[in-house]
Amino acid sequence: MSFAKANKRHAALAEEIRRHDHAYYVLAEPTISDPDYDRLYRELLHLEAAHPELVTTDSPSQRVGGKPVSEFPEHRHAVPMMSLDNTYSFEELADFQARVEKLLPEAELDWTIEPKIDGLAVSLRYENGSLVVGATRGDGVSGDDITGNLKTIRSIPLRLEGDPSSIPKVLEVRGEVFMSKAGFEKLNEKRRAEGEEPFANPRNAAAGSLKMLDPKVVAERPLGVFLYGLGEVSTEATVPDTQVGVLDWLDQLGFPSPERIWTGRTHDDLVASINELDTDRHELDYETDGAVIKLNPLALREQCGATAKAPRWAIAYKYAAEQAETVLKAITVQVGRTGALTPVAELEPVFVAGSTVSRATLHNEEEIARKDIREGDTVIIEKAGEIIPAVIEVVLAKRPAEAEPYKLSKKCPECGTAASKATEDDVVWRCANPDCPAQVRGRLEHFCARGAMDIEGGGEVLVKQIVARGLAYDVGELYRLKLEEVASLERMAEKSAQNFLDGLQDSKSRDLWRLVFGLGILHVGAGVAKALCRHFRDLDELMHATEDQLVAIDDVGEVIAQSVYRWFSDPDNRQLIEVLRKAGLNFESALYQDAAAAGPLAGKSLVLTGTLPNLKRHEAAAKIEAAGGKVVGSVSKKTDYLVAGEEAGSKLAKAEKLSIPVLGEAELLRLCGD
Ligand code: IVH
Repeated sequence: MSFAKANKRHAALAEEIRRHDHAYYVLAEPTISDPDYDRLYRELLHLEAAHPELVTTDSPSQRVGGKPVSEFPEHRHAVPMMSLDNTYSFEELADFQARVEKLLPEAELDWTIEPKIDGLAVSLRYENGSLVVGATRGDGVSGDDITGNLKTIRSIPLRLEGDPSSIPKVLEVRGEVFMSKAGFEKLNEKRRAEGEEPFANPRNAAAGSLKMLDPKVVAERPLGVFLYGLGEVSTEATVPDTQVGVLDWLDQLGFPSPERIWTGRTHDDLVASINELDTDRHELDYETDGAVIKLNPLALREQCGATAKAPRWAIAYKYAAEQAETVLKAITVQVGRTGALTPVAELEPVFVAGSTVSRATLHNEEEIARKDIREGDTVIIEKAGEIIPAVIEVVLAKRPAEAEPYKLSKKCPECGTAASKATEDDVVWRCANPDCPAQVRGRLEHFCARGAMDIEGGGEVLVKQIVARGLAYDVGELYRLKLEEVASLERMAEKSAQNFLDGLQDSKSRDLWRLVFGLGILHVGAGVAKALCRHFRDLDELMHATEDQLVAIDDVGEVIAQSVYRWFSDPDNRQLIEVLRKAGLNFESALYQDAAAAGPLAGKSLVLTGTLPNLKRHEAAAKIEAAGGKVVGSVSKKTDYLVAGEEAGSKLAKAEKLSIPVLGEAELLRLCGD
């Protein structure tokens, strides 16, 4: 294809992809099926691979194009990012209104009331319609340049929508990045399944995600954004004259903005809107911790001015946190299936936000030390994110004289084995004994769980008894249980015992990914298990895979690959697999997709030459194969791509002679869908 033709097709494709992204991520109204979208996207990547000069920074292919960084550069905001004054009472809100009325005695005031989204403030700078910098608020004067991370948020347009003549040369927009409640739950579930520490609330999860140095990891996090204001706007632009107008304008430019805002004039109007938002906000899929009241006409705002920290024309009304005071009776330690020791607060039961709370997570030892939480303390608890109850702080005035600083015992409370950390800066201590009864129970429960082998009746209570009575020690032994053994357990009628055995029988035909997930391999959650089972035909193929083969799979990084490889190298685990095979469990993967037929490089043949910046030759080859491509030794007319690194020699010359597209490492990775 000639360059001119490729250029034209590229522009059309990019435009179409942008339109579908906007429909899907901003309007939540998809306009295309996933496979059709993938086809467009892949065509764009192929074009860019053949004509690298088409890769602009705002191409849809550049969402995850950013390289990992060692630290974020500083970004100085063209217009400082201010904070807001807070209030918790309607009296203070009335005082605020009175202050503004005094500043603007002539004007008739009207206000907007918006949800205060509990996330992280960011600023996005567009020049000539393209996103050039995205930064955190930092201290308001300068923040971190996290452009690579922000680009991965699909609802952030990389290029503004609308008539190019109406787009300002410079436009800075401000808003809040957040994690949806549903996304947060899912992420934490995954983290727990993979033996990682869950996040305390969606805000921390969003903040933690944006701080990560590798955009590829950020891209996996379910982040969203709402834009609610402006920073620098170049002078030639016509800016709307009210907040309502600004939000409309942002909407037209392709930004997501809060789905509902209110306007009002009187104090009673404000109170009514704030109360309405308070009732409705629990239904929203993102966390809100208040309402932001802003003067609607922008010209009047300027007349009000600002204090050192916050504008005088806006205020945040914060909803009272759903908190309660209670006594922390004791700190116990739970042992998870991966051996992780998690301290738990045993509380005097207390009613908060609609239910009785008697336990709260304390996360880890560092968290306890930071808040200096001691047994016997009176504490304030809160249902953080309305989801997991957490201990917020200690009421020091009520601390008993004899209360001692808490020290997490470095011994497993179940089996007494010394605990250890995987790495020096890990915050999680783990019981090092794989035979620890708590770990054994945890593994069996996990295996039986609905998300894994889905074995009817295999809940916590039954598993506890099975382990306590020594009836089963690993998941293989579950399949050897006899009816009379199960029926002899407490509160087990013969019928429920039979149900459980039937459940075990049914589980033998489950799809392989459920078994792989159920085995409880460290870092292998359901998503990774599925990725493995798409790649390998059966358990034997997976079991014999090398680390290189594993790393080449989408969604499998080095840590996971190593963990999987180690697990299957352990003779005890291999023996377990043989027991499961004899018991008749299904080892075939129904998810298996012949990569050669389905991958983005299906049917393509590639030649490797020279030294690539990061990938070793065998790693590059594994990636190509995983994407369905074939690596061949020499360049011919049949070669689809040459992958060339430093010091490429005659192969490069030959490819150029034959007009075969030449790829660098980055383009190769993109083509492989990495
Ligand atoms: S306006 C100069 N509007 O709350 C005005 N802020 O406590 C600046 N926030 O730093 C902010 N939702 O991170 C505004 N609808 C909203 C908001 C909002 C959340 C955050 C923002 C700000 C913080 C101040």
